[in-house]
Amino acid sequence: MVASTAFTGQFPQTRLRRLRKHAFSRKLIQEHTLSPSDLIYPLFIQAGDSQQTSIPAMPGIFRHTLDFALKEAEKAYALGIPAIMLFPAILPDQKSCLAEEAYAKNGLVPTFVRALKKKLPNLGLIVDVALDPYTTHGHDGIVDQTGYVLNDETNLILIKQALTLAKAGVDMVSPSDMMDGRIGVIRKALDEQGFIHTGILAYSAKYASAYYGPFRQAVHSQSLLIGDKKTYQMDPANIEEALREVALDIQEGADMVMVKPGLPYLDVLAKVKSTFAVPVLAYQVSGEYAMIKAAAERQWLDERLVVLESLLAFKRAGASAIISYYALEAAKWMNASSLTPHDAGTPAI
Ligand code: PBG
Repeated sequence: MVASTAFTGQFPQTRLRRLRKHAFSRKLIQEHTLSPSDLIYPLFIQAGDSQQTSIPAMPGIFRHTLDFALKEAEKAYALGIPAIMLFPAILPDQKSCLAEEAYAKNGLVPTFVRALKKKLPNLGLIVDVALDPYTTHGHDGIVDQTGYVLNDETNLILIKQALTLAKAGVDMVSPSDMMDGRIGVIRKALDEQGFIHTGILAYSAKYASAYYGPFRQAVHSQSLLIGDKKTYQMDPANIEEALREVALDIQEGADMVMVKPGLPYLDVLAKVKSTFAVPVLAYQVSGEYAMIKAAAERQWLDERLVVLESLLAFKRAGASAIISYYALEAAKWMNASSLTPHDAGTPAI
């Protein structure tokens, strides 16, 4: 006689499923939403003409020459994506121990920045400050004889890189190197040179993660990398340390902070958001892209639904915006579902 209690009207008194029954009430009680304006699209770039080179561990993502990069940026802008990021894949003979190419005025990145800004002045342009695409050893900073990444010496080069990027016209620089004190010295140098409006998006809590593998393949640093990045990137075991990193970066002048990687670190994101009243960004990194893509190719997962659900999870955890290789596709999916606003079959996204 277990079932009969359900019909007595005594229990359960509160039925949360009542509001889930209809599409209209599901929409009314939705706590978080997604739109293309939540997204930042990272672009890999390379020298040359009319080429899109595939990246084996990131099907659907390419290294673009300038003509293709401009087209990709136009697509992003037309879809309502507010900003893009650039990551250079430079030629092996341009890499060096001291990463001189990182601050070359007419290097790959500054050239793309000038062209993009000319064509799409209102599309936000954010570029990493870190040396790994430019060093022969694949580290984000310069190394001593033992292979240790030197902090203060690296900062001096990062300052030069940030100034080169600011002069080329980026809207924000994005230090991803995890050197101590780099936000403060970069802010100071930008201000002294009059770049008071160039923002800083700090990769504040950046973990030494295996999820960056496909990215390193994309910028040709994977095979070069000697050792790992554990002496500067954070230990995945730590969360209090992330709060200390974020506190320092804010104090040193960061405009926005970031937690990276994304989905496996949502607890860190939520904690940073609840501790500091600042914009916090999430990076759905290359390994996360690769995992979803690989499962989708085998038709083990529904790619659209899994991507939109993952992006929504970032918003729920407190992200102001999400850097995602899926940005273009996701924005298309979002725009398509907003054209059919009463489609009860579309999930709450
Ligand atoms: C460079 C940098 C990395 C990523 C962004 N900037 C790689 C690294 O730190 O090894 C990773 C992004 C991704 O995996 O998508 N410092």
